[in-house]
Amino acid sequence: MPIDLSAKYLGLKLKSPIVPAACPLGADLDALKKMEEAGAGAVVLPSLFEEQMLSEEQTLVHYLTHSKEQTSEALSYLPEPDEFHIGAPDYADHVRKAKKALSVPVIASLNAATPGGWVRYAREIEQAGADALELNLYHLVSDPTVPGSQVEASDIRIVREACARVKIPVAVKVSPFYSAIANVAAQFVEAGARGLVLFNRFHQPDINLDKIEARPAVNLSTSADLSLPLRWTAILHGRVKASLAVSSGVHTHEDALKAVLVGADAVCVCSELLTSGIGAVSRILKGMRSWMERNEYSSIEQMKGSLSHRNCPDPEAFERAHYVKALSGYHLPAKAR
Ligand SMILES: Cc1cc2nc3c(=O)[nH]c(=O)nc-3n(C[C@H](O)[C@H](O)[C@H](O)COP(=O)(O)O)c2cc1C
Repeated sequence: MPIDLSAKYLGLKLKSPIVPAACPLGADLDALKKMEEAGAGAVVLPSLFEEQMLSEEQTLVHYLTHSKEQTSEALSYLPEPDEFHIGAPDYADHVRKAKKALSVPVIASLNAATPGGWVRYAREIEQAGADALELNLYHLVSDPTVPGSQVEASDIRIVREACARVKIPVAVKVSPFYSAIANVAAQFVEAGARGLVLFNRFHQPDINLDKIEARPAVNLSTSADLSLPLRWTAILHGRVKASLAVSSGVHTHEDALKAVLVGADAVCVCSELLTSGIGAVSRILKGMRSWMERNEYSSIEQMKGSLSHRNCPDPEAFERAHYVKALSGYHLPAKAR
């Protein structure tokens, strides 16, 4: 039986739902070509960070208004340009080159924490030919006087401003830490987002016990991280008018199949590519195809969402009722007694 692996995401036609997520691999054109050869439906480029955009603008302003000495002092709090994957001036160029080298859609990514003039980069990215824009809202609000409602309002404003700047579809890479994810998701869509990426992965610092100091850490995911995006994709499928992409914890074809079953239009993969290489894309697709054959699914579209909250025979599996059931049904292992 011929299996149709094609998918629709952000109004784009993808030859498969597997999409390498934003990560340093996407800064390399050869790696992007390998992703396409391995069967990726689209690629997401690494983010251009708000700090990079601000740094570029501040450099310009300071050079125009201050001496060179003052400028370097003022900018010393910003990360060095080479700490980023690609600098702001080169980002649009990278989008252009990726578009030229690939036939699959190229999704550019902007990382932002606050509304501001940086949104003009969204337009530059569109003009460089990106097929879509992913907006990665990564920030940590540690000020105890700032309420969640203020954070949400600011994030929604960022989305509204970015969406107003471009005609290409914008997907928001959502934080899993909002208190009412479904409501915030709906407000992002109302503000113009055509897609939601569930979820952004926040890297947590670690403590070095030898040096007795905190250090930043990049923690790669495992398949155990998939349950959070699975639950929310299942809940949001059919309830918001936007494409949904699962991101976090996809390592195997089983993970990718689960994501599609709960309603994902696209399945993003990052940690697995960093640990096993880009060949993981074809391995996952091969596994998906043979599972679909065995289970008589002829297409991704046919399979998509059949276990979402709306369609699932046991929707409470995604709700609080299941929390109570799961905990009360837990059997203590003998060695714990
Ligand atoms: C080294 C590294 C760099 C990343 N860079 C970005 C980035 O530039 N922009 C972004 O939105 N996400 C970035 N991410 C997050 C990934 O795109 C992805 O959402 C996250 O790792 C969860 O997916 P995974 O479980 O498949 O790794 C990065 C992740 C890693 C590990």
